[in-house]
Amino acid sequence: ESYDMGGHDTYMHKEIHEQVDAVDRVLRGRIDDRFSTVRLGGLNLDAREARGVRRVKILGCGSAYHTGLIGAQLIEELARIPADAEPASEFRYRNPVVDPDTLYIAVSQSGETYDTLAAVQELKRKGARVLGVVNVVGSAIARETDGGVYVHAGPEVCVVSTKCFTNTAVAFALLALHLGRIRDLSVADGKRIIDGLRKLPEQIAEVLRGEQEIEKLAAEYANAKSMMFVGRVRGYPVAREASLKLKEVSYIHAEAYPASELKHGPLALIEPEVPTVAVLPDDDLLEKNRATLEEIKARSGRILAVAHREQEKADHTIVVPRNEPELDPILMGIPLQLLAYHTALALGRDIDKPRNLAKSVTVE
Ligand code: AGP
Repeated sequence: ESYDMGGHDTYMHKEIHEQVDAVDRVLRGRIDDRFSTVRLGGLNLDAREARGVRRVKILGCGSAYHTGLIGAQLIEELARIPADAEPASEFRYRNPVVDPDTLYIAVSQSGETYDTLAAVQELKRKGARVLGVVNVVGSAIARETDGGVYVHAGPEVCVVSTKCFTNTAVAFALLALHLGRIRDLSVADGKRIIDGLRKLPEQIAEVLRGEQEIEKLAAEYANAKSMMFVGRVRGYPVAREASLKLKEVSYIHAEAYPASELKHGPLALIEPEVPTVAVLPDDDLLEKNRATLEEIKARSGRILAVAHREQEKADHTIVVPRNEPELDPILMGIPLQLLAYHTALALGRDIDKPRNLAKSVTVE
């Protein structure tokens, strides 16, 4: 991929459409069908060390932190290692307990974000093992970590992350699969995830073919006073990232909450001018999520659902293709990138360079 606009009006649009190839690239040469696992050459973590990991802590900022939330879920689900993500910008100021059995992972597109780099340096000083999930090859975080997984999204120019977000989530799926197969993930489940990963590029292309519909929806929601984004478990990091993206590029105020938390306060904000985007994968929580939609409707809230099938309680549904449930967050985020993009376009925003923001924050 080049810096050439390739017929697109903005880098954001170009980069959203590059995701089909970008995801293909992060998978390329890494799948090992013989053992239903993946090869991650740069990890520097042998099987014995991987088995000794008791916890995983993922650190990043902004969108990178959100991919960390997805990564932590994938690692818990596939490798059954307790995992969580935390903003790198907060981590080192709370004098964290640095545990030798914890695997730390720094995640960054640029590999130069000061807060993330400083967290890595603090961890290294305390003797921790730190891996990187990084896009820019040879960047500071890539150099300072003990090993890691390159994201291979290619150059990302738009301040707002799209293809790197998706590729990082896929890179975490690879890492989780790798750790899982060293531990207790069965051959059958390994194969199931690999088959799902292989389907992603074509399914992303399918989502992108629905762009015109999403453009119409963006026109309808662009007059919102504020927007609420909700999801549960796998849907929640998607809601977090979609809310950030909308804020960054359209300047519409947005909040993201676990759908289960709405009734504990944010429901007070719901009114016709505050629509809700609900991320509703067809999982065990679907019925509970539908009950939340009813609560929103009862307060005259408009609802845009992102789901695997039409949601009758929603005013509109963007239907995304099904894959393996663990991979739901990867596909479900993509229509919401297009929603943010077309909302910003409808509002005449400076899409590639939103006000007050820089692509890489290299100061504290
Ligand atoms: C991306 O949409 C954001 N502009 C921002 O949150 C970004 O993800 C964050 O600053 C971290 O950057 P990094 O991935 O280069 O470390």
